[in-house]
Amino acid sequence: MATDGNEMGINTRLAHSGNNPHDYFGFVNPPIVHASTVLYPNASAMAARSQKYTYGTRGTPTTDALAHAIDALEGSAGTIIVPSGLAAVTVPLLAFLSAGDHILIVDSVYHPTRNFADTMLKRLGVEVEYYAPHAGAGIASLIKPNTKVVFTESPASNTFEVQDVPAIAKAAHETGAIVMMDNTWATPLYFRPLDHGVDISIHAATKYPAGHSDVLLGTVSANANCWKQLCETFYTMGCCAGPDDVYQVLRGLRTMGVRLDHHQKSALAIAVWLEGQPGVARVLHPALPSHPDHAVWKRDFSGSSGIFSIVLKGGGQRQQHAFLDALKIFGLGYSWGGYESLAVPVFLGDRTVAKGPYDGPLIRLQIGLEDVEDLMADILRGLEAAAAA
Ligand SMILES: Cc1ncc(COP(=O)(O)O)c(C=O)c1O
Repeated sequence: MATDGNEMGINTRLAHSGNNPHDYFGFVNPPIVHASTVLYPNASAMAARSQKYTYGTRGTPTTDALAHAIDALEGSAGTIIVPSGLAAVTVPLLAFLSAGDHILIVDSVYHPTRNFADTMLKRLGVEVEYYAPHAGAGIASLIKPNTKVVFTESPASNTFEVQDVPAIAKAAHETGAIVMMDNTWATPLYFRPLDHGVDISIHAATKYPAGHSDVLLGTVSANANCWKQLCETFYTMGCCAGPDDVYQVLRGLRTMGVRLDHHQKSALAIAVWLEGQPGVARVLHPALPSHPDHAVWKRDFSGSSGIFSIVLKGGGQRQQHAFLDALKIFGLGYSWGGYESLAVPVFLGDRTVAKGPYDGPLIRLQIGLEDVEDLMADILRGLEAAAAA
């Protein structure tokens, strides 16, 4: 529901944001513009580039529709659309880091983000350092004169620690560093990073916005201070996304509120139920009152999505694999945010600070749109197999 008299409810906004149907003959959806060349009316317009669209890499009515819809959700000055969630991480990092700069990255970050930092950023002369997900205001002690970016991801990939993002942003801004956040888990429906001091909000639109496990896309939204530099880097790199994928994500946005609500309810019901299962040592879901960061999550987030992890009670890889191999509905596959449930083994071997200890092996569950009772029965099969292994 709208919180004031001027703003409409989230599902109303998702249904109507991005494009104005009357800009395109009244058709409710925007055109899918396949474009490289854009014609100019004359040489002087060409020399001055004095028209809205100049070349396919620099935006089309299709990309504008999605970017405007995301800006409305994020409260951002501008949004770039890139071909994957991973590109949504790498492009802003390349936009704001130079040789000799220092970056602080949360240790529980999505593994390919870490891989990019440890390979390409280091090769380009950037000093890379990892910090604990619970650093909060204490991050101030790690910030150096050359720290340019503090990278956050909350909740954490696979282990779901919640970061004190406002405290981190305050400390970073005191020395002029900027804050980026991978906000894929919450989407802007359940957490709006820019409202909490973040400068650049990153999304793998592959997940909930697309929603159907068939599209790769990323969005990066910046506040007014960072928008120009982000956009110039995007143009310089030429890493624009294809129009069909952009259109599919705009289509997905229309139903994202309804889908997320279902993911949220099902995941929470299953998480609560799992807490009572004898084979489960812990359920790592921040919306559970038992979660150590529940208070921070409750303070900052307005909802939870459909992915969390469980810690099996004892055992090792044998039990973990027995659980996974017994599943009939959950598929064994990476990614999340789609309509179908997935399970993956969690590997924490890349971590330097946030690696536990945990009482047993971890399994990450993406709860899809299937019926909860069927998913519970499937998980029970997994727990029984783990117990017998
Ligand atoms: C937190 C997070 N960020 C970014 C990505 C990358 O998204 P994509 O698969 O579109 O590259 C993922 C993918 O799993 C993710 O989990």
